[in-house]
Amino acid sequence: MTILSHYQAAELLQARSAERSTISISLDLGLTTTEIALTPDRLILPDAVVAWNEIEEIAQHDTACFVVEDNRVRQIRGFSDLTGRAYGLMPTKSAPTMLISGLPMHRIKNTNPYQDTLAKIKAIAPIHGRVLDTCTGLGYTAIEAAKTAERVITIELDPTAQEMARFNPWSRSLFDNPKITQLIGDAFDEIQNFADGQFSCIIHDPPMLSLAGDLYSGDFYAECQRVLRRSGKLFHYIGDPDSKSGARTTKGVVRRLQEAGFTRVVLKPQAFGLVAFKSS
Ligand SMILES: C[S@@+](CC[C@H](N)C(=O)[O-])C[C@H]1O[C@@H](n2cnc3c(N)ncnc32)[C@H](O)[C@@H]1O
Repeated sequence: MTILSHYQAAELLQARSAERSTISISLDLGLTTTEIALTPDRLILPDAVVAWNEIEEIAQHDTACFVVEDNRVRQIRGFSDLTGRAYGLMPTKSAPTMLISGLPMHRIKNTNPYQDTLAKIKAIAPIHGRVLDTCTGLGYTAIEAAKTAERVITIELDPTAQEMARFNPWSRSLFDNPKITQLIGDAFDEIQNFADGQFSCIIHDPPMLSLAGDLYSGDFYAECQRVLRRSGKLFHYIGDPDSKSGARTTKGVVRRLQEAGFTRVVLKPQAFGLVAFKSS
């Protein structure tokens, strides 16, 4: 599957202007490069030919990725009947982020989705044993956690989000890594199906409070406490602690986590979140 964004389109159009006949370019959003041939009318990909006007179209979209299908390019986007929201993949110079109703699901200001993921994982490291990743999204936290965990169970509410991940080269091991199990459902409900004390770590990376209030509730935190083993830990992404809303949300989250029984809560401002520990 060839996936392109305006970054590759710009390189391709520049190569056309320079009348080059080949170019080494990424067909998977920057993960690898492939040498392809260019003609005055089109580019010759390993499994398709694409006319230049299609590449000109991609160049006009800063916030979308495109898949090559049947020698045409198609914008990767979806509409969820479940949530009534529009989904898309937004490219960055690194891994893409997912847009839900136009809102990026990873940090992109002064960082990128890959660095954002590493910051979350670093905040809760070391990760061992069984991990619950409450909100799959593009699967970046699940994929990173699976590098050291025994097993990762990840939950996604919306099949349309999973569809976006299927198109994303950076999400591939979400579907290939046998250590990762994907569930489709509401994390608020799904967590109730797990037995007590079965996870060493929980990575909780929900959308903002206004989009997923239940996932910031005392009832949900009590379930997190129940399914964690003794000395288990929870990373909770919250948002910019220096913003007015981030600071307010953090205060409420800390209070509800403590009420739910988390004895120690440590702020992790570099990861825009916190880690809460279950007592031993
Ligand atoms: C911030 S993103 C998660 C990013 C993810 N950790 C990653 O590494 O790509 C939030 C995701 O949670 C999903 N979501 C929203 N409400 C949910 C719920 N109640 N249960 C499970 N997933 C939910 C959204 O569809 C979205 O894909």
